[in-house]
Amino acid sequence: MLNRIEFTRRGFLLSAAAAATPSFALDHGGQGVPNVASANFNPDVEIELVCKRDAVPILGGKPTQVWRYVGNLVKGPPNTLTSLPDSYLGPLMRLVKGQKVRIRLRNELPEHTITHWHGLHVPMAADGHPSAAIEPGQTYVYEFEVRNRAGMNFYHPHTHEATATQVYRGLAGGLIVEDAEERALGLPSGEYEIPLVLQDRSFDSENQLVYGDDMHTSMFGFYADRVLVNGRPDYKLEVASRAYRLRILNGSNARIYKLGWDDGTPLTVIGVDGGLLEKPETKPYVMLAPAERVDLWVDFSGRAVGSKLVMWSGGFYGLVPPMAERMMGSAISMTDGFPIFSATVTRAIGESPKLPEKLSTIKHYRMEEVANRNDPIPIAITMAHMSMLLNGGAFGHDDLLPQEHIPVDTVQLLEIFHEHGHMGMGGMMGGRGMGGMGMGRGMGMGGMGMMRGRMGMGGGMRGMGMMGMSMAHPIHLHGQQFEIVSRIYEGDDEEAYATVRDGFVDSGLKDTVLVAPGERIRIVKPFQDFKGRFMYHCHNLEHEDMGMMREFSVE
Ligand code: C2O
Ligand code: CU
Ligand code: CU
Repeated sequence: MLNRIEFTRRGFLLSAAAAATPSFALDHGGQGVPNVASANFNPDVEIELVCKRDAVPILGGKPTQVWRYVGNLVKGPPNTLTSLPDSYLGPLMRLVKGQKVRIRLRNELPEHTITHWHGLHVPMAADGHPSAAIEPGQTYVYEFEVRNRAGMNFYHPHTHEATATQVYRGLAGGLIVEDAEERALGLPSGEYEIPLVLQDRSFDSENQLVYGDDMHTSMFGFYADRVLVNGRPDYKLEVASRAYRLRILNGSNARIYKLGWDDGTPLTVIGVDGGLLEKPETKPYVMLAPAERVDLWVDFSGRAVGSKLVMWSGGFYGLVPPMAERMMGSAISMTDGFPIFSATVTRAIGESPKLPEKLSTIKHYRMEEVANRNDPIPIAITMAHMSMLLNGGAFGHDDLLPQEHIPVDTVQLLEIFHEHGHMGMGGMMGGRGMGGMGMGRGMGMGGMGMMRGRMGMGGGMRGMGMMGMSMAHPIHLHGQQFEIVSRIYEGDDEEAYATVRDGFVDSGLKDTVLVAPGERIRIVKPFQDFKGRFMYHCHNLEHEDMGMMREFSVE
């Protein structure tokens, strides 16, 4: 079932996606030529970023063939780029709010690509829209001003139908934005501020990457059998007995982690996707889905030299169908849990910064400021056999629904929920019927019968009925971060939900939200400053490539 990466197109599954997007062609969406530098843009920071093939010694012995970002700082503060030793990850970028940034992306890969700055609020031309993909040998120039508040973001390819494989091969990096409000807090910095990118990868006996090239992978996303931190296996931190800031990004294609310390020490969360919370929050564990970030305050003060804490992904279930859980029960098991990295105290330090009581100010929109407060824009997740859809459709560049037109400079209420693809079910929200999409529709639930049911802990069948096909989807919206205003559980499996429900951090600004089976989530999001097409999609990258992606036209 697992092939060494040949990365051939995925047979009938990709043709299903292709059938659903007849009008889409990789023709640069009419742009014809890649974006070039503009004479009247005067950058504070200029970076050359090359996507290329390389070989990196990840495991002992033979190096692993990867694709990676290599950066070169042409102009700007010297700490703008930091490469990670012996890692395939792209350089950590450190930008400052207000900076004008130019990035020249050069494609030295054997296929087309485009890069997206996940979390940054930038014009469409700088957002890495799939229609902007460049061919091998071409360069795409991004120019933008950093408008974000401080936070940790994520850059990665956004290539139509090839995001999952390009990220899996190694194209990914962290991008930190700093601002004055955050600096004034004096949070742990320098060696005490540690970005940690979590990814799972499988290797063959020659140390080469292995990727699942099968239907199971496309349906549920690829779950590999080792966890890497910052591109390294068996990651170990050596720390001093003082406070640290651990900034964790889930850069995995599909894997969801349930972060918690092995000794039960609760997590002190200070930030999420869109930067700092207003005040710290204590959580027994934190669920971290692909592309989500969590900023942890970890205080090793008072711990003896030699003591060790291990960050685990704790066991949970119910976020993928039971059959998938069983098939994913490899070396690192979702249901049993597994260690991610350790932190050992190796030196004693007398003083340590104190955790601030107030971290930041977040602008909360009042309902009067929301344009459609009584009529949320629906984002309906449909997952049926061989088809992953949003609002009844797959990605197609010229195929907008009425609710996908959004007036610029408005604030909108959106509701994300699971639309169950039973046979013969009537119309979808937004006026699209069940016809028209071809593959997937007619298959309904029929083909999935084997996935239903698993003997639950209590002896009953779990996963029967409506929820049988459901899985959790990390839904991401490009552009400005949003506030989560409600998360309602309407499901029928409280027992499974209890293994995850205390791990959602919904109080900060988010750009990716995990929608567990049975959940209905409302968010309030501003669409300011920039007109154009901005994507919204599932950040399970295999789902995204299958077409669980659409776009808003901000106009
Ligand atoms: Cu991180 Cu549209 O992606
Ligand atoms: Cu994004
Ligand atoms: Cu999904």
